[in-house]
Amino acid sequence: MTQVIFTIFGASGDLAKRKLYPSLFRLYKSGVLSEHFAVIGTARRPWTKAYFEGVVLDAISDLTTSKTEAEKFASHFYYQSHDVQDAGHYVTLKNLQDDLCATYETGHNKVFFLAMAPEFFGTIASHLKSENIVDGLGFERLIIEKPFGTSLETAKALNQALSETFNEDQIFRIDHYLGKEMIQNIFAVRFANVLFEHVWNREFIDNIQITFAESIGVEDRGGYYDKSGALKDMVQNHILQVLSILAMDKPASFSSSDVLPEKIKVLENLCIPDETTIAKNFIRGQYQAGRINQQDFPAYIDEPSVDPASKTETFASGVFFIETDRFKDVPFFFRTGKRLTEKGTRINIVFKNNANIFKQDIQQNILTIYIQPTEGFSLLVNGKEVGKSFAVEPVKLDFRHDAAALGNSPEAYEKLMYDVLNGDATNFSHWQEVKASWTLIDKIVSTWQADKAPLYPYQAGSMGPVESFDLLEKYGTSWVWQPDHWYRERGLLQ
Ligand code: BG6
Repeated sequence: MTQVIFTIFGASGDLAKRKLYPSLFRLYKSGVLSEHFAVIGTARRPWTKAYFEGVVLDAISDLTTSKTEAEKFASHFYYQSHDVQDAGHYVTLKNLQDDLCATYETGHNKVFFLAMAPEFFGTIASHLKSENIVDGLGFERLIIEKPFGTSLETAKALNQALSETFNEDQIFRIDHYLGKEMIQNIFAVRFANVLFEHVWNREFIDNIQITFAESIGVEDRGGYYDKSGALKDMVQNHILQVLSILAMDKPASFSSSDVLPEKIKVLENLCIPDETTIAKNFIRGQYQAGRINQQDFPAYIDEPSVDPASKTETFASGVFFIETDRFKDVPFFFRTGKRLTEKGTRINIVFKNNANIFKQDIQQNILTIYIQPTEGFSLLVNGKEVGKSFAVEPVKLDFRHDAAALGNSPEAYEKLMYDVLNGDATNFSHWQEVKASWTLIDKIVSTWQADKAPLYPYQAGSMGPVESFDLLEKYGTSWVWQPDHWYRERGLLQ
């Protein structure tokens, strides 16, 4: 049974309400948290404990029909109005923490969750130390949300500030993709199947395609997004993290001390392209107005809080290469963007063809991992078409989780919180990984900022600029997943 006090900075925010309180409640329902825990919520607003409990009850209202259970859970929540820059507030926070530690017998274990603007991360960490809130008693872990810096330089400064209070093994940098069921499943697919394990290398894999497509636009996040863009928002973190799991060597065991060094090795061995290669191998795009399935969507520059002259990319695509024995020269294609045809997060592993003894073209084997909205995998294999003549045809072996399994699939945040409570860092970004990914991303950003590569327009509802398709053609292949075809064939997307 876990004993712990959670302190959440940013307790009135959207993330806390949508993700953290429901996740804590699920952990409570499943018995991971029971009596010996308390949550301190802090934010600037002057809320009372009763009001805060109401917010928590509201956030978990869909998850239980038992009022008693919900209220018992919410009674563990305490609120402190807090200005993160004011040293005095940390003194009251320390007193509250000590009181709750005695009341709930939490064994001095503490988890701090920074769910607020990153510019305050350093200040908070330093006050936690100077006011003795981090006191060396019990376990002390820090969870931080992205973005971890906006460049290598800012990431380094942030890491330096945090490391004055916390060691690397106490810092849990969230990448919520690492909490997704099917991303974690990649480990099982790769290392629990002899069938895949021995062909997972450059000898048998032709290319890997990572698509993280979103159909939504920037919604109400224009202010943030316009300063970020798809490359920093999705590629620096989520895509490169997933790539590291796809490309890593087999770890000696499934523990963070063995998994992380293997992932780090991949990211540190990413080829850093020069400007000419970046211009050739990386595509940026911005969505224009479009109409799909009888619905009209505005151009990115007409979205709220977006600069009408913005050159921010809402789509990024390209190809990464890794200098490891396992994957040298194998292209890892990626694409991600807003206002694409469909929400679809999937990975296609395209295998090489073997020597062909049939007088017909043979389809390459493809393993597809579906991450969302459905979860599962499929394998394209070849078989004989039924009939007297001998023709080879592709057959798709398809597995998707059924609704019952999905219903039990824990939310990414619940899994990640569970890991933090167990001190398991496998599904978090290590500083070395963050550092390596920024090193590469910075290079692309600087080429793009110097206007050395065009910003291609694409129509809302399409799968991005045509140049992203041309890129794969240059490498003698094409995107396996082209959901826009379905709409075009029916005249729903012109
Ligand atoms: C976030 C990005 O990290 O991931 C968002 O900031 C994006 O722009 C989101 O929409 C996508 O996450 P998911 O889990 O919906 O695929």
